[in-house]
Amino acid sequence: MKTNKFLGRDWIDAELDYTKEEWETLIDMALYLKRRHAMNDDQSNILKGKTLFTMFFNQSLRTRSTFAAGIQQLGGIHVDLEPGKTYTPARKGFDIPYKTERISDVAGMLSRVGDAIAIRMYGPPAYWIYGFANALIKEFAEYAEIPIINMECDKYHPTQALADLITIKEKFGTFKGVNLTMSWAYSGSIEKPRAVPQSVILAATKMGMNVTLAHPKGFDLDPEIIKASQQFSEQTNGSFQITNDFEEGFKGADIVYPKSWGAVPCFNYTDEAGNTIKEQNHEEAERLNSASKNWMTTEKEMRLINKNGIYMHCLPADRGQEVTDEVIDGPSSVVIDEAENRLHAHKAIMTMIMGGRP
Ligand code: CP
Repeated sequence: MKTNKFLGRDWIDAELDYTKEEWETLIDMALYLKRRHAMNDDQSNILKGKTLFTMFFNQSLRTRSTFAAGIQQLGGIHVDLEPGKTYTPARKGFDIPYKTERISDVAGMLSRVGDAIAIRMYGPPAYWIYGFANALIKEFAEYAEIPIINMECDKYHPTQALADLITIKEKFGTFKGVNLTMSWAYSGSIEKPRAVPQSVILAATKMGMNVTLAHPKGFDLDPEIIKASQQFSEQTNGSFQITNDFEEGFKGADIVYPKSWGAVPCFNYTDEAGNTIKEQNHEEAERLNSASKNWMTTEKEMRLINKNGIYMHCLPADRGQEVTDEVIDGPSSVVIDEAENRLHAHKAIMTMIMGGRP
């Protein structure tokens, strides 16, 4: 029987499944590990001999490097399973002979020889079907006997959200009373998931922050995630509002997080039985995207935010489209702090869910 409330748990829809207190515990743990790291304190006893498998169906710099470094700093072993070099794990109904392998078999096998499986999937490998990748990760969880970690799917990017909260805690010391604006930003590429903005608004409202979501019409987030964010803000006496005005989002903000994501027509939508209920419309998505080229963060918008306010971005950023060099390289930018904190966030998650102490 599991007596530690973290040990053995999955980290998939973490903004919904972990309580505010559990998120606070993870933030504390990450900051503790960060201090020990700064002192060159040996941490290799924490997950000595434990094995983390990673599977990236998409490109990654930050998530890949920090999970790999993190597990090894904790004394564990990292095995990167490259889908395509292994048989590609497939959901029921998506099998291709001698090319894919059913998730139940992959999860069952890896559970016998390792201690956690971390997965990233969104976009083309998930056929652009909104929710497909999240369902794939949950199918792994159904069959695995070891924890499953979501390293970004089409709905959530919870490890990024944890690193962002750690960064906010370092900069402001608190969440209460801090005004955060999650804003859409223009990019030349429309092929981006909604995972980061959805995770950021959920995590920030969960911690009681005053959250504004800003985006042009047509870039709405998942209605269920909007509803959950509203409920979190009511429970924590924070606030949550939506605006379609770019400059409005900057006024009075302590934190601005302008980041591009795909318009509503970028995605295919299916019902629970898997039937297509709405097909991707690239032309309409491109039209919506091009109509909002002015949603680029410049020094003009940054002058609207509060004194000592900060600029956040999960990276990679599209410079000259989402943001100017002057802003992202300027004194308000904390983007490298966020990226650094991915390491400590991942180490905290692995320590708690893969840890050796029951
Ligand atoms: N922010 C983030 O997840 O970066 P990578 O895509 O490089 O992992």
